Amino acid sequence: MDLNVKEEILKRRTFAIISHPDAGKTTITEKLLYFGGAIRDAGTVKGKKSGKFATSDWMEIEKQRGISVTSSVMQFDFNDCRINILDTPGHQDFSEDTYRTLMAVDSAVMIIDVAKGIEVQTLKLFKVCRMRGIPIFTFINKLDRQGKEPLELMEELEEVLGIQSYAMNWPIGMGKEFLGIYDRFNNRIEQFRTEEKDRYLPLDEDGELAVDHSMKITSYYKEAMEDIKLLNEAGNEFDKDKIQNGELTPVFFGSALTNFGVQTFLETYLQFAPAPQPRITEDDQEVNPIDNDFSGFVFKIQANMNPAHRDRIAFVRIVSGKFERGMNITQTRTGKSIKVTQSTQFLADDRETVETAFAGDIIGLYDTGNYQIGDTVVGGKKNFLFEKLPQFTPELFMKVTAKNVMKSKHFHKGILQLVQEGAIQYYKTLHTEEVILGAVGQLQFEVFEHRMKNEYNVDVRMDSIGSKVARWIENEEDVKESMTGPRSMLVKDRYDRYVFLFENDFATRWFQDKYEHIKLFNLL
Ligand code: G4P
Repeated sequence: MDLNVKEEILKRRTFAIISHPDAGKTTITEKLLYFGGAIRDAGTVKGKKSGKFATSDWMEIEKQRGISVTSSVMQFDFNDCRINILDTPGHQDFSEDTYRTLMAVDSAVMIIDVAKGIEVQTLKLFKVCRMRGIPIFTFINKLDRQGKEPLELMEELEEVLGIQSYAMNWPIGMGKEFLGIYDRFNNRIEQFRTEEKDRYLPLDEDGELAVDHSMKITSYYKEAMEDIKLLNEAGNEFDKDKIQNGELTPVFFGSALTNFGVQTFLETYLQFAPAPQPRITEDDQEVNPIDNDFSGFVFKIQANMNPAHRDRIAFVRIVSGKFERGMNITQTRTGKSIKVTQSTQFLADDRETVETAFAGDIIGLYDTGNYQIGDTVVGGKKNFLFEKLPQFTPELFMKVTAKNVMKSKHFHKGILQLVQEGAIQYYKTLHTEEVILGAVGQLQFEVFEHRMKNEYNVDVRMDSIGSKVARWIENEEDVKESMTGPRSMLVKDRYDRYVFLFENDFATRWFQDKYEHIKLFNLL
């Protein structure tokens, strides 16, 4: 392989930030982009209050709600690395897109609010990362505010998430008394709210402050030193392999808002974050990022990013090789060859045409209906399919009809396209074939309704049937309709597979006790 191409690939770091809303994801993203020179003033990404919309606000509905629905991609250079951050919608109403974005990254940064600890959405996203075995780096944020005891948080990581942790640094004080961080990894103390030239204090070989400093006599310093001793003696050891396998998470403390600890985090993170990783094909072959031939897969399809042009964009994670505009690629599901003349790279909404891109990067391909989520694209002669992306079990369901029956054709066309895009999951009742839509989060329904009206000119009626526990069936031939009841509805999915929608976990267990021979399973 061309040495320059190899070098380009090896300097890529592609990650996502996982967190619960309000933990500080946007604030940290901003600081990272700022270090990388990608934005001039922090405050560009987010502007809820200033009236500027977040740059990732592509869709009308995002503007109305002031939240980010779609995942955008941001790229910048730092310390000889080319960094791609894939944004994951952080609102409570996050969707399958959020999960699928995690399929396209090589590592994840988990942000935790020091006062709140691990929250629901963090846990859900963490599980997906864990399933993939990708490295997870933890940033505990808002140390300028009073929060939980650091040791308590470390314990929470191990107990709630079941992952080992290693504190890369440790806070000295907190809230109003936040003095700085004891940096175990870089052997120094980084002082809070101190000018750069005086910010760092050295440690001696016993790990104590090496210089005379007023901090030394504070109770916060003494407490931190006691904790450090405890961590040194009883804590986990730093283990690079375990980090790479996602078994141990390095933990950093800081305060994104005051831009404290973020740069230290980024610098250290880049030393351990993996370069683009190989990916497995359906026939169990490994595709190496530095293979000569271009390959990639579609993990997201975004419609109408620009309402002036009715375009769809297929987001492709490049797995191997180099992409060049104008090249011919094959979409291997259909075998169709496509000359790529229009391709985009993303810094939120400043989309630029991309001429070249490398394994690890994300590119957007203009789509006139050629692509589906999970599709493989290749540039060389070898044809293959990458392993299927997992489907995620929806939790919320709605019965949907067109308000005007005359619009039924548009209604079905719209549903088909939006389902293919992965915006929503499709089910139907057994005999009456009524449409039921399933989603991971409520917002998917709102986006669906909005798009049906704006793009397909159909007003829909949505009747919630609430949250359900969806279970697929291994031995479908043994299923009988008499097994259904008010708490266990039987429907079919878009592939005509049977799915039980149970009222709740209790109803699921009750059913399983009664019909032991029916083998139920859930998607992720
Ligand atoms: P998110 O993307 O994860 O949802 O979080 P975001 O960065 O929007 O931060 C949520 C709130 O937390 C914001 O305040 C933000 O200013 C604040 N925040 C983020 N990092 C820190 C930190 O290190 N320390 C403190 N004290 N606050 C932090 P907000 O008032 O809700 O929003 P806004 O007024 O800034 O728009």
